[in-house]
Amino acid sequence: MTPVNPLKNIKKFPDNFVWGVATSAFQIEGAAAEDGKGPSIWDTFCRLPGVIADGSNGDDACQHYRMWEQDLDLIADLGVDAYRFSVSWPRVRPGGAGKWNQHGLDFYEKLVDGLLVRGIQPYLTLNHWDLPDELQQQGGWAHRDTVHRFVEYARGMAKRLGDRVASITTHNEPWVMAMLGHESGIFAPGIKDRGTAMQVSHHLLLSHGLAVQALRADGVSSKLGIVLNLSPMQPASAAQADIDKTRIEDGCLLRWYMDPLFKAAYPADVMEYLGKDAPAIAAGDMHAIAEPIDFLGVNYYTRGVVSAQGAWDSKSSGLELTDMGWEVYPEGLTELLVRMNRDYELPPLYITENGGAFKDRFEDGRVHDVRRTDYIARHIAAMVDAMNQGVRMEGYMVWSLMDNFEWASGYEKRFGIVHVDYHTQVRTLKDSALWYREFLRKHKAERKTPAKADQIAWANEPATVLTGA
Ligand code: FCB
Repeated sequence: MTPVNPLKNIKKFPDNFVWGVATSAFQIEGAAAEDGKGPSIWDTFCRLPGVIADGSNGDDACQHYRMWEQDLDLIADLGVDAYRFSVSWPRVRPGGAGKWNQHGLDFYEKLVDGLLVRGIQPYLTLNHWDLPDELQQQGGWAHRDTVHRFVEYARGMAKRLGDRVASITTHNEPWVMAMLGHESGIFAPGIKDRGTAMQVSHHLLLSHGLAVQALRADGVSSKLGIVLNLSPMQPASAAQADIDKTRIEDGCLLRWYMDPLFKAAYPADVMEYLGKDAPAIAAGDMHAIAEPIDFLGVNYYTRGVVSAQGAWDSKSSGLELTDMGWEVYPEGLTELLVRMNRDYELPPLYITENGGAFKDRFEDGRVHDVRRTDYIARHIAAMVDAMNQGVRMEGYMVWSLMDNFEWASGYEKRFGIVHVDYHTQVRTLKDSALWYREFLRKHKAERKTPAKADQIAWANEPATVLTGA
C-alpha cells in the first residue's frame, strides 16, 4: 500500500502552518509519586478494580519524566515544528492549591528550554484530565471553587513559561472529562450522573474563559485557546427518529461547546432536552466563556453514527476499523471543518490530535504500520480539502508521538508513530514515523524552493508546486 500524497490537491499553503506531534503528561511521564508529585484523579481511578482493561496504571508509563532528553531528541529527529504536551497539575501544585512544587516546575522549565534549544515550538496544555486528587475530594470540577483553583494554576504556569511557549491550551476535550468522567463514569473520576456531568462541562468552560481573561490581563504573549474533540454526527437511517436524535447528539458534542465559546449561549434545544440536568449558570458566566481566543484545537478520530434504536454497531458500516473499533472516515474531517467554518466566526484552527490505534507487529527492529501511515496521510489530505474550501488551518499534530497509556484501554492500544517496549523503554521509529519525517522533509523543501517541486518524487504521484499564501 502506497500512502497518498496528502498535499496533492493543495491550492495554497499558509507559511505559518505548524506540523507537530502530541502527547499528554499522565499518558507518558510515569514518576507518579516522585519529586513531590501529588496523586491525580487518574492515579486514584486506576486503583479501582476493573476500570482499566489490562489492570495497569500510569506509575511508569513511558518513563518520560526520566527520559525526557532522549524523547526531545526523538522529536527533533522527526523534523516537526511543534510539540504538544501537557503539564501535570498535581506535579507542579500537588494539592491543586497551596504550595507549589519546585521540582515539578523545574521539570517543565527544562522541557520547554530543551524544545527551544532544538528549534521546536512548545504547545502547552494545562489540563489534559489529571486533576489533583485533593481537589476531587472537595467536589472536583462539579464544585465551582475548582474554577478559581484552575485560574490560579494557569496564571502560575504562564508566569513561569508564558514567555517561552508558543501556545497555551486551557483544557483538552471538556466533553470527555464531563461525560466520560461524570455521566458514563468509564474515565476518572468515575461518577455516573448526568446533572453532575453538565455542571462539570459548565465549570470547565467557565474556567477556560476566566483563565484566558486572566492570562491576557497578565500580559501573556502565547496564543491562547482550547481543544475540543469533535465528530460529524450522521443519522443511521432516514427515519425521523434517527434524524432527531442526531440533532441532539450533535448538540451535546459540538454545539454545547462551540455555541458558548463563539456565541455566548448554550443551544436552546439541548437545554430543553436536559431539563433538570441543565447546569446552574451564574450572571456573567456566558460572557466570560465567550472571551475571544487566538486558536481552536480540534481532535478528530472518526464520525458518529446515531440510531434511535440504541448504540450503533460500527462493524455494520463495512468501513475499515481501527483497533479502538472506530471507523476510518477521513471525509468526516473535511465535512466537520467546513461546517464549523460555515456556522461560526472562527479563529485559526489546528488539528491538535489525529491518529489511529492499530495492532502493530514489532519484527526485526521494524514496525511496518502501513495502516497508520495511510490513516494519517488520508486525514491530512482531508484537512487540505477543507482548506481548499476556505477553512483557515494553522497546524496539524499527530496523536501520538509514542505508544502510551491509553486511559481505560491501558497499554493495549497503541497510537504511537514511535514504538515503545514497556519492559526496556526502548523507543523505535515505526514506518509511520519514517513516513511523516520524509513527508515533512519533502514538504519543507518544496516550500523553500517551489520551482524545484517537480523534481521531488512523491509516491507514484506527480509533485505539486506549492504557492505560499
Ligand atoms: C483523545 C485524548 C488523547 C488520546 C486520544 C486517543 O481523546 O485526548 O489523550 O487518548 O484520544
